[in-house]
Amino acid sequence: MSTEEIEVDLTVNGESHAVTVEPRELLAQTLREKLNCRGINIGCESSSCGACTVQYNGKSLKSCTRFTAQSDGADIVTIQGLANDGTLTELQRAFTENHALQCGYCTPGIIMAVDEYLSENPDPSRTEIRSEALQGNLCRCTGYQNIVDAIEVAADRRNTE
Ligand code: FES
Ligand code: FES
Repeated sequence: MSTEEIEVDLTVNGESHAVTVEPRELLAQTLREKLNCRGINIGCESSSCGACTVQYNGKSLKSCTRFTAQSDGADIVTIQGLANDGTLTELQRAFTENHALQCGYCTPGIIMAVDEYLSENPDPSRTEIRSEALQGNLCRCTGYQNIVDAIEVAADRRNTE
């Protein structure tokens, strides 16, 4: 380890990891490249697209906006840790059933952001889904209609469970 490098402890999808990083290494890079979280996509690296969104200590976070060195002790969930023992969540199922993706590049980030949004706002209107739940995530393919449909279906199911 060079004098510049820093050791950071992270919990990712329930597993503990110690990683050694340069001070300016982005959390998105560490998760994807060192911890094999290939569900994290890196698009803009400037906080615009949301493709790198994870849940960080229970809140959604664009992981390109944080240095790994700032994240010691963080508890992180990525799309790979969302399903429970291989059973997809209602939100994940609704995305597949409603054809809410095309290339899929945006999808993991959208699901991680919306999963956290629905836990705080369980019954959003379609307007709120567009203006709030999806405000931090871009999709270049779908036109959003099917994504909004999927989120509405998932919210309804979660509320009747
Ligand atoms: S890569 Fe992080 S917001 Fe675009
Ligand atoms: S499905 Fe391609 S960017 Fe959203």
